[in-house]
Amino acid sequence: MKVRKTSISKLNTTDFSNLPFGTVFSDHMLICNYKDGKWGEAKILPYGPIPMPPGAQVLHYGQSVFEGMKAFKNNSNEILLFRKEENFKRLNQSAERLSIPEIDEETFMNGLDELLALDNAWCKKEEGYSLYIRPFIFASGECVKASASYEYTFIIITSPTTKYYAGEMNVVVEEHYTRAPQGGVGYAKAAGNYAASFYPTKQANAKGFQQLIWTDAKEHKYIEESGTMNIWFRIDDTLITPALSDSILGGITRDSIVTLAEDNSIKVEQRKILISEVVDAYKNGTLKEAFGTGTAVTVNPINTITFREKRMVIESQKDSFAIKLKQQLQGIQKGSIVDAYDWTSKVTA
Ligand SMILES: Cc1ncc(COP(=O)(O)O)c(C=O)c1O
Repeated sequence: MKVRKTSISKLNTTDFSNLPFGTVFSDHMLICNYKDGKWGEAKILPYGPIPMPPGAQVLHYGQSVFEGMKAFKNNSNEILLFRKEENFKRLNQSAERLSIPEIDEETFMNGLDELLALDNAWCKKEEGYSLYIRPFIFASGECVKASASYEYTFIIITSPTTKYYAGEMNVVVEEHYTRAPQGGVGYAKAAGNYAASFYPTKQANAKGFQQLIWTDAKEHKYIEESGTMNIWFRIDDTLITPALSDSILGGITRDSIVTLAEDNSIKVEQRKILISEVVDAYKNGTLKEAFGTGTAVTVNPINTITFREKRMVIESQKDSFAIKLKQQLQGIQKGSIVDAYDWTSKVTA
């Protein structure tokens, strides 16, 4: 792979004690272009602006998909990637839905390894640090006809992150706006899904809520996700999470928590959940926990849920499933707990 290293590293001028999520980028990026029906050779370049004509199709029609994944450094200074095969698979599932050509496994995996090996120092070993990895593909053809592009660009950039204290998590059930309808692109990590969520989220923020709980597009009766996390409820001692569908993003954290919970002998149900079921469980005292799962936060407890002006306060539990599963997952990711699932892989390049 062609590699052009940066002549001025930002490592020594980056304040690693202050890393607002997603705003600091490592020295290099991987880039690969699709033209004339095929992907070209990937190369590694210094992180920096990319040429983009105003007629680039992504700017007009949002034909773009992305992934979010994390790398951690273990105590032996090795970089561990978490379930990278799942991110690769999901990127191509998203690409297919957006009519974007799939990226081949070798370009993705080798590119990731070489990029991370080169920017190794950006992944810190100290507790709480990780390297957030953002692979994405967008329509780079120059044409303003509303049609799928003939040219695409695949890029991987990385961003060092520290543990951030998410603070209180007060969520409100959204019964008007929809994140994703049946038959839409909700199961894909399509850029437009996120653009469409910002306005309703901003309105919820203005009312003092950190996030929304999205409900189904048809009846607004069933729970789908919370913000950009999959959502979970502990009713009595059973964990319930909405079954996957074409309007829900199949989270890799969600899938990992299903496995970990079951291996901890916790009963897990993946099925439709009515809002009324959660309200009833709250009223009769069986709603013990609610939490979200996603790469950025792993597991994030929800403190309150507001439904039609009524606030349900979820007290923290001594035997919290959320905290137990979060510790196990983070331990595996960081290499401090034996990975019995073969979820982690070392960067070898
Ligand atoms: C809409 C949405 N749901 C769920 C998730 C959680 O997915 P994962 O656990 O793979 O990060 C994300 C974040 O990536 C998301 O954007």
